[in-house]
Amino acid sequence: MNTKHSEKTNTLSLPSTPYYLLDEAAIVANMQTIARLCELSGAKALLALKCFATWGVFDVMQPYLHGTTSSSLNEVRLGYETFGNNSADSNDEDKKETHAYSVAYSADEIDEVLSYADKIIFNSISQLHAFKDKARAQNIPVGLRLNPKTSNSSFIIADPARPFSRLGEYDKDKIKAVLGDITGVMIHNNCENDSFEAFSASLADIEDRFGDVLAQLEWVSLGGGIHFIAPDYPLEKLADRLKGFSEKYGVQVYLEPGEASIHGAGTLVTTVLDTMHNDKNLAVVDASIEAHMLDLLIYRESAPITSVNAESVEVMPVDQAQQDAADNTIIYGRSCLAGDIFGEYALAHELQVGDTVAFGNAAGYTMVKKNWFNGVNMPAIVIRRLDGSIDVQREFDYQDYKASLS
Ligand SMILES: Cc1ncc(COP(=O)(O)O)c(C=O)c1O
Repeated sequence: MNTKHSEKTNTLSLPSTPYYLLDEAAIVANMQTIARLCELSGAKALLALKCFATWGVFDVMQPYLHGTTSSSLNEVRLGYETFGNNSADSNDEDKKETHAYSVAYSADEIDEVLSYADKIIFNSISQLHAFKDKARAQNIPVGLRLNPKTSNSSFIIADPARPFSRLGEYDKDKIKAVLGDITGVMIHNNCENDSFEAFSASLADIEDRFGDVLAQLEWVSLGGGIHFIAPDYPLEKLADRLKGFSEKYGVQVYLEPGEASIHGAGTLVTTVLDTMHNDKNLAVVDASIEAHMLDLLIYRESAPITSVNAESVEVMPVDQAQQDAADNTIIYGRSCLAGDIFGEYALAHELQVGDTVAFGNAAGYTMVKKNWFNGVNMPAIVIRRLDGSIDVQREFDYQDYKASLS
């Protein structure tokens, strides 16, 4: 037995930092919001594994969601194997759906992809032509990704409607010509969009553009990126809008929440290794944004601090205007990247070597992207279960680093 996996422990025997700490109660709170949205609207919700694939907490997510969706062979397999109730004897009610999508499948993986998939969505008409017969021979419903050429994304790097985008088909004549080959479509054009009005307007635009196509389908996935778990989000309005859409076109609506599933449910817990001063207070912690919270680097954002020395503090990074303050503290990662910065903060007390600092929003698009840059210690995965107990789900060591290369 591999002793690095799943050791039951208590709060007094947390592993040494760094570690990701997932809170099942926070995940379930998000799940309940998703389940309510589904109940009110008739939509089905699939966890987007590209955002979060830490399967050690799937048992508490699985009762609320209808399945998983994927971006690759590995993800579709993980969804099939870990998201429950895929065995032949589970009844239809319980069975979770496993959707397959990829920007591009290769010919040598498609058979295996289909062996796990309940639906497959191709990104382009050429991929559809290449692989649809294999899917249909196994009675697997086939879909196509559409690109409405409009989006709600404030980052060009994450904008599926960016100029010259490869993400989906937009030419209606070409799409109409393959309608006989598909039963559904997927459209993903939101990114952390917390405005119902913006979502609704964008859906209206999709309806204007593709309404006659939608009316001939059985299902439409509207992707992820709708930030409906925000505390003041008008969930009922969203549910009404989705229900109306579903009834108007006679389609089953799917949603693919990634971030909304785990927002606020994960922290990265670190220890201050060194402090310095260079016009401002500097602290270096035992983790790295490049290796452990890569999106901070990609999107040039800062991490919120949720606790210092186990006390809940909820410190947000200072904004541009406050960056002049000489007593601010910049918290750096320990990699050699000069700009490995968690953020700049106005703290009540100067950090000391040995202090514990926990950064928030560390579940989505973090754990799925972690890497061994600089050989920095890989954060363990720790789970606070619903009953309050703590599981050290996985620890990593030198052999894992070594095995990641050869
Ligand atoms: C096709 C698709 N579905 C779902 C998602 C999940 O989005 P989010 O995590 O913003 O909800 C993404 C994110 O990129 C995506 O590309």
